[in-house]
Amino acid sequence: MNDEKRIVRWDELADHCLRTSLWVVIEGQVFDVTTYLAEHPGGDDILLKYGGLDGTQKFLEVNHSNYARSLRNARLVGTLTSDPQPSDYIKLVKSKKQKTNVNPNRQITWEELGQHNKKDDLWMVIEGKVYDVTDFQDDHPGGPAILLGKAGDDATAAFHDANHSQSAYKQLEKLQVGVITGVRPNVSGSGSSTNFIFVIFMILAIGVGIFMFTR
Ligand code: HEM
Ligand code: HEM
Repeated sequence: MNDEKRIVRWDELADHCLRTSLWVVIEGQVFDVTTYLAEHPGGDDILLKYGGLDGTQKFLEVNHSNYARSLRNARLVGTLTSDPQPSDYIKLVKSKKQKTNVNPNRQITWEELGQHNKKDDLWMVIEGKVYDVTDFQDDHPGGPAILLGKAGDDATAAFHDANHSQSAYKQLEKLQVGVITGVRPNVSGSGSSTNFIFVIFMILAIGVGIFMFTR
């Protein structure tokens, strides 16, 4: 398998975008990470995300050690073809992943949800269900920015406020990646401190009231 001269075609690469057989492109070379998924210190999610795709930028961003590079090199399949990437390639890979990888009943914690809070990886909760809206952003009639504002968060109230139609609900179905589980962490913290100040104020007010009344 370890053959730099082997040329990997785009259609071949697309056939290896799932957990069962997972190739990633790094610096123009194709690596088979199928049996490395469980061992990867950066987790399996990120490798699955880049399965069948070019992970160069992210790989370099993370500043992988020389040790990581040596592990990687032992998994070389070949060199990616110099043919230009077909125009619908990313769409094709994403639809393959969507069809097979998604279990809409998967339990997702608030912590996991919170990690998908960026423009290129954007999830949100609506009515207890978790949706991946990364690819939907630019198609959203209400615009992408409003979705980014709810990235990795509960968007139920905002979704209701916008009075979405039945057709919007229908579109949601295709985007579901799981259901949220556990208790939502108190993100701001300011709500509870406001409540605390309010309780102290009430106790003082009642105290003053009793004092005045019994004088
Ligand atoms: C065969 C390919 C790969 C190998 C052998 C590999 C190996 C490793 C190793 C050994 C580490 C621990 C830190 C280090 O020693 O550098 C690591 C961390 C990580 N890797 Fe990879 N990696 C591979 C591909 C990728 C790809 C394609 C991505 C993203 C697209 C990625 C994302 C990460 C992340 C996010 C971390 C965590 C860094 C941190 O927590 O600071 N890796 N990887
Ligand atoms: C994530 C899944 C979402 C889907 C599938 C979706 C879908 C849609 C659709 C189809 C429309 C057109 C009107 C309609 O048919 O109701 C729309 C409009 C709108 N959406 Fe969403 N939406 C989503 C999330 C959100 C969220 C989380 C917000 C607020 C934070 C939001 C705010 C809006 C607004 C303000 C409009 C009105 C745009 C206008 O009429 O100018 N949407 N959305």
